[in-house]
Order: sequence, then C-alpha cells, then structure tokens
Amino acid sequence: MSERPSIAAFAGPDGRLAVGGIPVGRLTERVGSTPYFAYDRRLITERIGLLRSTLPAGIHLSYAVKANPMPAVIHHVAGLVDSLDVASALEMRAALDTPTPGDRVSFAGPGKTDAELTQAVAAGVTIEMESPTEADRVVRVGNQLGIRPRVAIRINPDFQVKGSGMRMGGGPQQFGVDVEQVPGMLTDLAAADLEFQGFHVFPGSQNLNAEILCDAQRKTVALVLELADKTPWPIRYLNLGGGFGIPYFDKDRPLDLPAIGDNLAALLDESIRPNLPDARVVVELGRYIVGESGVYVTRVVDRKVSRGKTYLVVDGGMHHQLAASGNFGQVIRRNYPIAVATRSLTDAAEEVTVVGCLCTPLDLLGDNVALPRADVGDLIVLFQAGAYGLTASPTAFLGHPAPAEVLV
Ligand SMILES: Cc1ncc(COP(=O)(O)O)c(C=O)c1O
Repeated sequence: MSERPSIAAFAGPDGRLAVGGIPVGRLTERVGSTPYFAYDRRLITERIGLLRSTLPAGIHLSYAVKANPMPAVIHHVAGLVDSLDVASALEMRAALDTPTPGDRVSFAGPGKTDAELTQAVAAGVTIEMESPTEADRVVRVGNQLGIRPRVAIRINPDFQVKGSGMRMGGGPQQFGVDVEQVPGMLTDLAAADLEFQGFHVFPGSQNLNAEILCDAQRKTVALVLELADKTPWPIRYLNLGGGFGIPYFDKDRPLDLPAIGDNLAALLDESIRPNLPDARVVVELGRYIVGESGVYVTRVVDRKVSRGKTYLVVDGGMHHQLAASGNFGQVIRRNYPIAVATRSLTDAAEEVTVVGCLCTPLDLLGDNVALPRADVGDLIVLFQAGAYGLTASPTAFLGHPAPAEVLV
C-alpha cells in the first residue's frame, strides 16, 4: 500500500486501485472510455462527517459548488451540508435542482450581470454584493420585480492571509467591498427595500496552516463586530469563508482540523453568540469537501525513450486536469500523486515522465516519477482530482473529446 494518504484512500484489497470499492480496471470497462473522472461518494460523506464531528455544532457548512459542479456530486453533497454557494446563474440552477431551498443558497463573485441578479432575486438566494454599484443594481432589480432581494455584503478585509494558494482579500481586490467603504454603503442602503442578512469574508483558498486560518477567523469576527453597530439591520448571517487546504505534494501536511474546531468553538462562545445571537455562522468550503474524493483516469497510448528518458504518453492531459500540469495556481511545478491502476501499488518502480496528448510541453502530468512499469494500454491515475479539475481546465484546447465523469 502507498504511504501517500491520497493514494492509500483508493487502495483495494488486492493492492490495486479501486474507486468506491470497484477496481479501476473494471470501472473503466463500465465507463466505456478513457480518460474520465471518478468521484468516490463514500469519501465525500466521510469528509463531511469529519467536519461535522470536529467543528462545533453551531457552525453551518456551505459547499462551494465551483469546486465540483457535477450535478450528481452537488446532489450528494447537498444532502449532507446546510447550504450551497454558487458563482454563476448556471451553478445556481444546478444548486436549485437539489432539494436545497433558495434561502440556503448564496451567490458570490464579481461581475454578476443584471440577468444573473434578476434570476437570483427571483430565486430568493442570498446575493453577496461585491460593490456599491452592484448593490444599486440589486435594489433596482428588486424594485422592478416587486421582490425584496436577500442580500449580504462581501467584505474585502484589511488583512491578508499568508500561505493561501490563492489570495482573495486584503489590499486592493476585485472581490468584495473594502471594509472602510462598508459603513458608507450601509448608510446608503438603509432606506432600500432589502432583506439584509449579514456579511461574508473570503480572504483566500488552499491554506494548510491552521494557525493562519484561525487568525483570519478571529480577525473576521472582530471586523464584523465592529461593523455590527453601524448596521441598520440585525445580523442574521456571518460567513467566515473557509480556505481549508488539502495536501497535493510530498511535503504537504494535512490541515490540523481540530485546531480550527477549537478556535471556532471559542469564537462562537466568547464573541459571536453574546454579540450576534441571531447570526447563522457559516464556513464555506469547496476543495476540502470534494478535492480528495476524485481521481482522473487515463490510458497509456505510447511509451517511448528519448535520449535516455522514458515517456508515457496518455490519452488525457492538461485540457481536463490543468491543475496537475502545474498551470493552475502553482508557481513552481510539482507532481500531483500518481499511480498505475493496472499494476500492483507495490510492484518495483522505474523512473518515467508522464505526459498528456496535447502538442505543448506544458502538458506534463508526472515529471520523473517512480511508477511500476507501464505499457500501452495500462491505466494511469492522478489523485486529488475531485476539485477544480474538469471545469477548471481548457477543455476545448486542441479539440479532444470531453471526458466522462462518474460518481461511484
Ligand atoms: C467566495 C468563495 N467561496 C468559496 C470558495 C471555495 O474555495 P475552496 O474550494 O478552496 O474551499 C472560493 C474559491 O475561490 C470563493 O471564492
């Protein structure tokens, strides 16, 4: 069995890889073609169970649909979390196709069009307003429809979160309203016909340092408590963001979730409940919920040696799983966990370089990795593919067919 937890989670009883208990070779026959993404529903369920048992009971879990918007995945997750967060009208429609009611859907993201705002107001979802002008447009749309929009303000805080793979708060940002502008915006909106819910702060994504995340949560609560006095409505919603990271690379250590649970429990008891008794306190996660549940399965179509270096060329690539090629959010390219599904995980290894089928040197999936010998026809699996995989990849690039997705 592999020592990498991301690979061990998919180890079947015979030492080969399995998803949802189905050996990858057999699953591939069932799917009917390679490449494809497979998501393990049990791993998603277990991950949400871990969050439920480690975070305090007063924390509501929201799933950020952007991480994996496959309808079957959204549906499965929707049954296990408290709310869904969407970033487009299409994601909103997919979220509303689940039993989740509109008032348990939030819509965040810059550049919402009038058409999207109209759909969101009509659906009764919470619109997380990202600027004063967006707020004006929401009010106008609400007046036109004769429906009071449910809104929150997404705040761009005055602090930054170090160590996040993507930083989305602090300094100048396209995300949220600068915290110093929020009191003026609240004054301007005081007379507007709005169902004001509260505030959202999302300062960054993919962070493995619990202490930094705890510090951001403390600062977020302090910032919202300061704004509470200036808010003409009761605060019913406090979205603390998330940013919980998952380990992708050898040196990465899993997040210390209990430390985050302790911090949230202290914040709830000491600061939030005494001051904001009506607030629904939300942690919003995408990658942490689904990222480790997914694999990307490809087939070797060529094996060649070039000046002493062995290449395995597979039928997938960066057009489906951009992140594994190092071109999505990485500064220095490192290998995602990778294995050969059609060999035993314990077979002797050789050093090979796994590349995709696109005609660009960027299409590199495993650079000088140690794998059991694989030949044409063998299946190569990339792990940590459950979040920001297919929909975060340039699928039209070079015109190859789209991969299948299955939830097992
Ligand atoms: C507003 C918002 N919520 C949630 C997320 C999900 O982040 P992650 O998948 O890292 O948990 C993002 C990521 O960009 C975001 O911008």
